[in-house]
Amino acid sequence: MRTAASARDTSAFVLERITAGTRLRREHDDIIRTALAAYAAAGRQAGQPGEDEGKWVHNSHRATWVREDCVVKVARSPYGETALRRDLEARGRIHAQARWSAWRQLVPRTLAEHATGDRFAVVEERLPGLPLSDLMDDVSLMARVRGRLADLREATSHDVAADDMVSTWFLDPGATVAALLRRHGHRRAAAAVAQWASDVAGSLRGTTCRVALVHGDLWPGNVLLGSRGRLGVIDWDQASFHDAALHDALHLTLHPVRTERRVDLGLLIRSLIVSRDDDPVLSAALARTEVGKFLHDTGITERDALVWYWLRHVDRMTREPGHATNPRWISNNVVAVATTIHQGRRTT
Ligand SMILES: Nc1ncnc2c1ncn2[C@@H]1O[C@H](COP(=O)(O)OP(=O)(O)OP(=O)(O)O)[C@@H](O)[C@H]1O
Ligand SMILES: [Mg+2]
Repeated sequence: MRTAASARDTSAFVLERITAGTRLRREHDDIIRTALAAYAAAGRQAGQPGEDEGKWVHNSHRATWVREDCVVKVARSPYGETALRRDLEARGRIHAQARWSAWRQLVPRTLAEHATGDRFAVVEERLPGLPLSDLMDDVSLMARVRGRLADLREATSHDVAADDMVSTWFLDPGATVAALLRRHGHRRAAAAVAQWASDVAGSLRGTTCRVALVHGDLWPGNVLLGSRGRLGVIDWDQASFHDAALHDALHLTLHPVRTERRVDLGLLIRSLIVSRDDDPVLSAALARTEVGKFLHDTGITERDALVWYWLRHVDRMTREPGHATNPRWISNNVVAVATTIHQGRRTT
């Protein structure tokens, strides 16, 4: 039966759809206008970006116009703008370092940046090649790419005092993740995470760690492979210049395993910590990361390296809108590992 209340609900629903449609159309027009202005700012002939000219890829934070001659990225949210600005800054710093010439050809140059009203866009060099996410079943190819990236990282490696890093690496993200766990009612797991961070920080004080340029989001989709093995690396918004190389090594190798198994990264890391000896595929994947090689750099154990990788992943993802309020994401990515840390503390 159609009641006054249901009629009201229906009209509210229709109105909402119309408003959302209008908002999306307006945003679409705005993005095209900004992309064209940014393209012109790069000194290019601005045509109308029709369906036939390049392709558009949208995610919730940015719209990316991939053209033959360049790539235009337009922010769709404040987070998207922050990420674009961080990416711009990191790529600029890499290109400014004369000593890092080996990296420079892998990293897109900025051709222009452009701000209109409240929208921000960047035009960057288009790197040739296919994303490794389309090639990651090729085990020997992936091994070659890992080896090449490891060699490149050497060029940026240097020593730092652990005391200068322990807050950024362990204490601050430990506090963020503990607060998130407390908000979701997991007080003991929160305490265990904070204690883990404090213990590892304590064990490193007074030591020296070997660090390098770390991309921070080195999943295979952000690595492009061109002809004759030429590599390209995009999306530098999570980069850090004094960081543990194990993060990129773990991410590049474990991300495909997680994609293949269709599990959240937290669940995969939990399996790596508690049951990888029963899972030959997982053991082999961890061996491929060669994480052991990097442990000397930071003086931590393999288990702590995996927990650190997890902590960093969660800390980063909670900054992206949406995750910290998604119960399924919290359960599979945060609680799954935090309770394992808590149980580990009780049994040791
Ligand atoms: N400088 C570049 N050169 C060549 N291709 C690029 C460049 N930047 C982005 N691309 C391509 O544009 C597409 C969209 O990239 P973008 O990074 O915006 O989104 P995404 O990779 O889906 O998101 P994310 O990496 O944040 O998960 C991808 O196919 C990527 O390979
Ligand atoms: Mg990308």
